[in-house]
Amino acid sequence: MKRDLLTLRDLSPEEILYLVSRARELKAALAQGVLAPTCEGKILGLIFVKPSTRTRVSFETAMYRLGGRCLFMTAQDTQISRQEPAADTARVLSRYLDGMVVRNFAQEELENLAKFSTIPVINGLTDLFHPCQILSDLVTIQERRGSLEGLRVAWIGDGNNVAHSWINAAALLGFTLFLACPPGYAPDPAVLEWARAQNRGEIHRLEDPKEAVKSADVLYTDVWASMGREEEAAVRREAFRPYQINEELLGAAPSHAMVLHCLPAHRGEEITDAVMEGPQSVVFDQAENRLHLQMALLEWLLNQVR
Ligand code: CP
Ligand code: NVA
Repeated sequence: MKRDLLTLRDLSPEEILYLVSRARELKAALAQGVLAPTCEGKILGLIFVKPSTRTRVSFETAMYRLGGRCLFMTAQDTQISRQEPAADTARVLSRYLDGMVVRNFAQEELENLAKFSTIPVINGLTDLFHPCQILSDLVTIQERRGSLEGLRVAWIGDGNNVAHSWINAAALLGFTLFLACPPGYAPDPAVLEWARAQNRGEIHRLEDPKEAVKSADVLYTDVWASMGREEEAAVRREAFRPYQINEELLGAAPSHAMVLHCLPAHRGEEITDAVMEGPQSVVFDQAENRLHLQMALLEWLLNQVR
């Protein structure tokens, strides 16, 4: 049976921890020049409707590092842009490729594509979820903190796709997540409801960002206007102003707290330049770990027995 990664809910807690630890092994193997070509002979397709730097380049380089090849397409280059049904695109591409990474808007469209594909489909970000981002963030946190046991993460800002994947992760792995989102920009209630029904981990919603960070190991933020929401940017700037990660907010957190941002960042909006460039920021290690996690994920998904 092929496996997809459409949301973190497609993985068991054990599989998440396996991917995190395998990513760390592959990182070490790459550094020592002893990486095995576990994706040799495989071809990964990437279909992107939205722009990307990290997701695209980390998947492509991961595939090349593991001896495989990639084919990058913007949806505009394909008949998807002329409304060829997902069911047809999926069945055709499944005959050429060994796996697919898709970045699009609607989660349902991605799920439909996966339903008709006979190859693994990976969510490279939809409006609802960004599972690969959180998997690699767990690598960064484990590296820095030593373990994920008893983890406390504070999400400051928009209740968006990245926040939703953090909510999934907290419920699957059983850690504590504090969510400080401006009124009107809370996470999707259905995502919160799913998490609460798992009876694992703790999810706290707080209005005051200082309350949210006061016992946190990790402060995390993301852009105030995600891709597709650009026309709301001015209104959001006003609503989100008190939710900036700046030196004052960082001062309210424990001194060991680290700052993560999935990037791209808008300095002066959701994060200040001083915090982003400061000693508690791990954003560039975080970006690097996308590569190592994608290697673990591709090797695992593309070599599942079909
Ligand atoms: N964090 C992330 O997914 O970045 P890109 O949009 O550059 O892929
Ligand atoms: N929430 C952001 C994440 C970008 C990686 C967006 O969807 O644009």
